[in-house]
Amino acid sequence: MPELTEGHWLTQAVETEPKRIVYSAEAIHSRVHEIAREITSYYPPDEDLLVLGLLKGSFIFLSDLVRAINRPLHVDFIVASSYGAGTTTSGNVKLLYDPMAPIAGRHVLLVEDIVDSGNTINRLAEALGNRDPASLELCALLHKHLATDLTLEPRWVGFDAPPEFLVGYGLDHAEDFRHLPFVASL
Ligand code: PRP
Repeated sequence: MPELTEGHWLTQAVETEPKRIVYSAEAIHSRVHEIAREITSYYPPDEDLLVLGLLKGSFIFLSDLVRAINRPLHVDFIVASSYGAGTTTSGNVKLLYDPMAPIAGRHVLLVEDIVDSGNTINRLAEALGNRDPASLELCALLHKHLATDLTLEPRWVGFDAPPEFLVGYGLDHAEDFRHLPFVASL
């Protein structure tokens, strides 16, 4: 993979900069479309599908994914955060916004950017599972496979990610780098 040189992606002075592209924009585009085809054929076409994007990290992945899924669906968001400005989870997953959309009886597809410690998913799986969805599945762009106690395994994974701190395509470090069209390591 190419080394990252300073370019127009980095428009401000930051102490920590991405060093290496891990997944290029082209690789992500191709994988997102593969996953979208699988999701399209997985759900019965006449049943209600709610795609629930976990903010903020999934916002780019979600927007690319739903445009590639070829069936009716609704979109809503849920907001959770646990990392703050650091590179390790605080372990305290705060639900900052809960969807207005009803969950009971609907197929719910939770879309997340990355499964790291698994704390976020475990917290959300509990919160959403208690609301009697017809089904609850997880689609994660990146999965580090570090969590040993995941209560909701992703049915769809974009890439098995290395144990590095990753940024770009929605993922941040202290709110920087979400806008990068690729995923890079710090
Ligand atoms: C990050 C990331 C995932 C979660 C994964 O979110 O976007 O949602 O952490 O980590 P975990 O598996 O260790 O819980 P963060 O809390 O940084 O909020 P953000 O989405 O607003 O960046």
